[in-house]
Amino acid sequence: MARATRPLPDSFTASEAPPASEVLSVRHLASLATPTGVGPRTGGEQGRLRRFLDAAIRIEGGRIAFVGTDEDFALRYGDRPSPGERVLDGTGRTALPGFVDPHTHLPWAGLRESEFNERLKGRTYAEIAAAGGGIVSTVATTRAASEADLARLVRSRLDRMLRHGTTFCEAKTGYGLDLANETKQLRALFSGAEGHPVGILATALPGHEVPPERRGSAALRARYVDECCREILPALAEAGASFVDVFCETGVFDLAESRRMLEAGAGCGLRARVHADELTPLGGANLAAEVGALSADHLLYVRPDGIEAMARAGVVAVLLPGTSFFLRMNRYAPARQMMESGVAVALATDCNPGSSYTESLPAVAFFAALGMGMTVEETLTAMTLNAAASLGVADARGTLEVGKSGDVVLIDGPSLEHLVYHYGINVVTDVVASGTLVVRDGVRLN
Ligand code: NIG
Ligand code: FE
Repeated sequence: MARATRPLPDSFTASEAPPASEVLSVRHLASLATPTGVGPRTGGEQGRLRRFLDAAIRIEGGRIAFVGTDEDFALRYGDRPSPGERVLDGTGRTALPGFVDPHTHLPWAGLRESEFNERLKGRTYAEIAAAGGGIVSTVATTRAASEADLARLVRSRLDRMLRHGTTFCEAKTGYGLDLANETKQLRALFSGAEGHPVGILATALPGHEVPPERRGSAALRARYVDECCREILPALAEAGASFVDVFCETGVFDLAESRRMLEAGAGCGLRARVHADELTPLGGANLAAEVGALSADHLLYVRPDGIEAMARAGVVAVLLPGTSFFLRMNRYAPARQMMESGVAVALATDCNPGSSYTESLPAVAFFAALGMGMTVEETLTAMTLNAAASLGVADARGTLEVGKSGDVVLIDGPSLEHLVYHYGINVVTDVVASGTLVVRDGVRLN
């Protein structure tokens, strides 16, 4: 019998909030755009935003206290700053909710740029993996890395995410693939993120691949699934993971193995998320719905019955169009069909060294718009509210509304459209995380 799911850590305290007396306001914004509410949005609702021209926002003690027009701000608070209030000029800029990245693989060592170039010369991801490259090569370099080195790498990736507007994220283990190295990855993730403005929740992913030393026979492979269920997942839950994930894919973990790992994770209080239907239509989306997963991710080959099952069960589709592009798959997940069928769509970077080496959610929004036909409004909801919902934190994050965490991004441009329209540059100028200004005019503040 699965134990009751543990409550997620209070996402308000995931990064340190400033004292209640601290006030930060942004005045004279060209515009402000945000989805609204505390639950995922789908269908026509996914593109419905609250928008203001000549806007202002105020954060008190780390939480949003006012969102509206600058005129209403002046009526409420007057035109002179109150004692201790810091006022930023938002002229020419648009305020958006802090971005939420719900699928990353942050704690790894070693890069795979030569594989990238081999793919450009015609080899496929699967061919490279079969020849000893792919996930297994990152497992070797991650196992060889010290915990301190991994923590430094996590921190540098979080820094880059922050400069591109991410204020909250999920990050997975999955390059350790044994008890010692999976727990090392998780500890490195937490120590690298300690005190960092980007808040994180961790996912246990020992089911990312079958480790090389367990590949000789069916018995060895079964032994690894047993180890995941009996030892590694409980240890990762104990060490602070919030979620369990598995790469449910032809040639990796089949449906029965994936179900076992997800159920074992649930038994330790971990909510499920699933790498599903990425390379073949195996039915991972259906499995995600059956086990009550928070999200099913990738979904390039999702079947119509998988879409229906996700809609019925309220599973969020976390789509990773950067991966489609990076692997030259000539195929994207059917985002429009999913939204029309009542599935809430979120977007994530999948930040990893093999299939998507980027920390930038605006880059992903670009691929979502031009590759999957999402509107700019829909991409914003996907990388804020729906992403937060897929992590179970939409009560506290993902929109600019009074009472939510003071996570705000300013982009360079007078309207939301500039998020996608001005491409190939970092459109994010300023970032406020939990009420603290941490990036100003593109420069990280300490
Ligand atoms: O999410 N799909 C499986 N895992 C990663 C790829 C990881 C790698 O190539 O290192 C992904 O795309
Ligand atoms: Fe992934």
